[in-house]
Amino acid sequence: MHNIHIAGTGLWYPEEKITNEELVNTYNTYVEKFNTENKSKINDGSVIPMEYSSVEFIEKASGIKSRHVVDKEGILDINRMMPRVQNELEGRMSAHVEAGIKASLDAMKQANVTPEQIDGVIVGTSHSARNYPAIAIEIQNELNIKGYAYDMLVGCSSTTFAINNAFSDIASGLAETILVVNPEINTPGVDFTRRDNHFIFGDGCAASVIQKNSKSQKAFKILDRKLYTQFSNNIRSNFSYLNRAAVDRVNEDKLMFNQNGRGVFKDVCPLVASLIKEQLNKNNILPNQISKFWLHQANGKMIRLITSKILGTDDFPDDISPMPIAQFGNLASVGSLFAFNLNNDLNKGDKGVICSFGAGYSVCSIIVEKI
Ligand SMILES: CC(C)(COP(=O)(O)OP(=O)(O)OC[C@H]1O[C@@H](n2cnc3c(N)ncnc32)[C@H](O)[C@@H]1OP(=O)(O)O)[C@@H](O)C(=O)NCCC(=O)NCCS
Repeated sequence: MHNIHIAGTGLWYPEEKITNEELVNTYNTYVEKFNTENKSKINDGSVIPMEYSSVEFIEKASGIKSRHVVDKEGILDINRMMPRVQNELEGRMSAHVEAGIKASLDAMKQANVTPEQIDGVIVGTSHSARNYPAIAIEIQNELNIKGYAYDMLVGCSSTTFAINNAFSDIASGLAETILVVNPEINTPGVDFTRRDNHFIFGDGCAASVIQKNSKSQKAFKILDRKLYTQFSNNIRSNFSYLNRAAVDRVNEDKLMFNQNGRGVFKDVCPLVASLIKEQLNKNNILPNQISKFWLHQANGKMIRLITSKILGTDDFPDDISPMPIAQFGNLASVGSLFAFNLNNDLNKGDKGVICSFGAGYSVCSIIVEKI
């Protein structure tokens, strides 16, 4: 069996950033306008008044302070409340591809690999830009990579599931080096008029080079992978081409991201903590031998709770489980890789866990060791 490594990773995120104050200010102005315009209906009980959002709630409930987004102006425009993005069009590069190329070039530089050395491209994302041709094949074409490319969707675990597929392809002899790309352009799928959802997501992209016997300075050996899924309706996006022809067709705003956040919190924290504990145990690694837990970035309290359940104490330094969520918000499947990329300056032999979890439910935990 060869050693298979995460040879390098790269990130891309938009320059534009929205603070909680800016977001709440827009949201509350929207609420004021809605309630004023619907005053008589609210008074006769036929319309429910909208409630105000608050910076304090957002920071306390989620740990999010800001998010980077593809279009700040559109999201903060109370007559629009969504980013201005473009449709997919033949002859124009997909925004997912553009983001993917930037993160990929960064990852390839860190891994010290050229396009000729790459045998395949796997795109894993929670929201694909289109059904076909695959985004991965467009990235493959733009970067002059030979071999094969395909897209896959596993909600918030798409990034780690894609790394797992790359590992399996290499282990089976199909490839020696795979580029994994994870564009998460989330804000077009968010209903910014919903108080419970408007603060959650940001946009970003990560890429990683998975390689047999990497010589990269930044390489981490993949020691073990553990995947788990369990069906739940607690996080859903019903957006689909079926709506166009559906006999029960609805306004597509109603088909976007929706979750029972409290339910997710209660189900997923114990699930992930016991999965990682079992995995460490199987690999004869004690929890206190793990230098970093690079966990999915959905909620700061969840990250802290899962870490404390694994370590068996809540007395641990904050930097064991880095939280880029504060600056970037929830980046769907790339949250754990943002945490990894920004905080992986470890010594040879140090071990860490990269773990995503979310819609499905889906969980993928990868134990790595710095070489
Ligand atoms: C979404 C999340 C931050 C909400 O936090 P929470 O503590 O569960 O909050 P709740 O939804 O129970 O709401 C608590 C109260 O705050 C109110 N509230 C909701 N949004 C609010 C806002 N923006 N501003 C002010 N109050 C708000 C609710 O109406 C509720 O009021 P009530 O108690 O009077 O009914 C949290 O549940 C979470 O992150 N869950 C995990 C989600 C997850 O992992 N998803 C994966 C997706 S990738």
